[in-house]
Amino acid sequence: MAIMIDEINEQPHAVAVAVDSEHANVVSLVKELRKRQIRHVVIAARGTSDNAAVYGKYLMEIVAGVPVALAAPSVFTLYEASINFADSLVIGVSQSGQATDVLQTLEAARSTGALTACITNVAGSPITELSDFTFLCHAGEERAVAATKTYTTSLALFALIAGVWADHQGLIDGLKQLPEQIQQTLLLEDEISRASERYRYIQECAVLARGINQCTALEAALKMSETSYLVAKPYSGADFLHGPIAIVSEGFPCFLFAPTGRAYPSMVDLAMKLRSRNAEMVIVSNNCEILGLAAKPIKMSVDINEYLSPIAYIVPGQIWAFHLSRNRGYDPDKPRGLSKVTLTR
Ligand code: F6R
Repeated sequence: MAIMIDEINEQPHAVAVAVDSEHANVVSLVKELRKRQIRHVVIAARGTSDNAAVYGKYLMEIVAGVPVALAAPSVFTLYEASINFADSLVIGVSQSGQATDVLQTLEAARSTGALTACITNVAGSPITELSDFTFLCHAGEERAVAATKTYTTSLALFALIAGVWADHQGLIDGLKQLPEQIQQTLLLEDEISRASERYRYIQECAVLARGINQCTALEAALKMSETSYLVAKPYSGADFLHGPIAIVSEGFPCFLFAPTGRAYPSMVDLAMKLRSRNAEMVIVSNNCEILGLAAKPIKMSVDINEYLSPIAYIVPGQIWAFHLSRNRGYDPDKPRGLSKVTLTR
């Protein structure tokens, strides 16, 4: 067995442990948010952790009604800007807890009065020292360079924070069902492995999703790029229509993530437009209507609350990246020229 697929398979357990272990801690954070009347959130992260941050942004804005911005760490590291973070919660996400530019952002935020928090997989890592609240992924050591279980557990922690902050019981209850739903999704592995064979020579593709699953497009594209060395371009389904769709001609590979929910009709609309250009579509959905437009439909057997769907919908993306890499003759556990911790300024 390879490390990456082992870790993909550990996700149901990891998500369950993260949610159970951090619930009380999240309740304490929310008490503090209310006491300090926090009105804005800023999230700082890189790479996969930044994709988790995109989910945090959408979900907190949708259910908790607070504006959430994604930090541009270079504002601090390269331009040494001073920003007033009073009344803000600043959350750093770093599975290793070592991302230097994320640390610098948290430090700058704290010095101007922010409440600080972090999501990390490593207790006692440098990021925890700059954080008033630490939320641990409890994912166990992640050995594969391509992050998987730290991503889904980070998403689960964002969902917990948003759910508790917004008193959204449906979200909190839904999180308890997720491990089983992810388990069901893992059963797709053989089908995805076979389906990916057809795509082993592709050099480029578009990866598309809409709304709360924007993070899924970003993360699936990142996994494919780093393990299969192809140009996988992620787009919001809406942005794609504003120009980039012009790249699509007959046979151009497009990956669509389209769970039932508010974003679904616009994904059907996009899929119809792509079909009229004879694109080669791989579609992941629980809905047979849109799956009927795909060259390779990947049917999710579970219906998941749209707000939580990114936590399960990335799983076929991870499995796809793993098997596509192997079908291309690469070792997904050893992406060329990458190491587990990347430090940037
Ligand atoms: C990709 C991956 C990287 C990291 C990024 C940030 O699979 O793992 O993109 O997410 O280097 O690392 P951390 O989260 O340790 O700050």
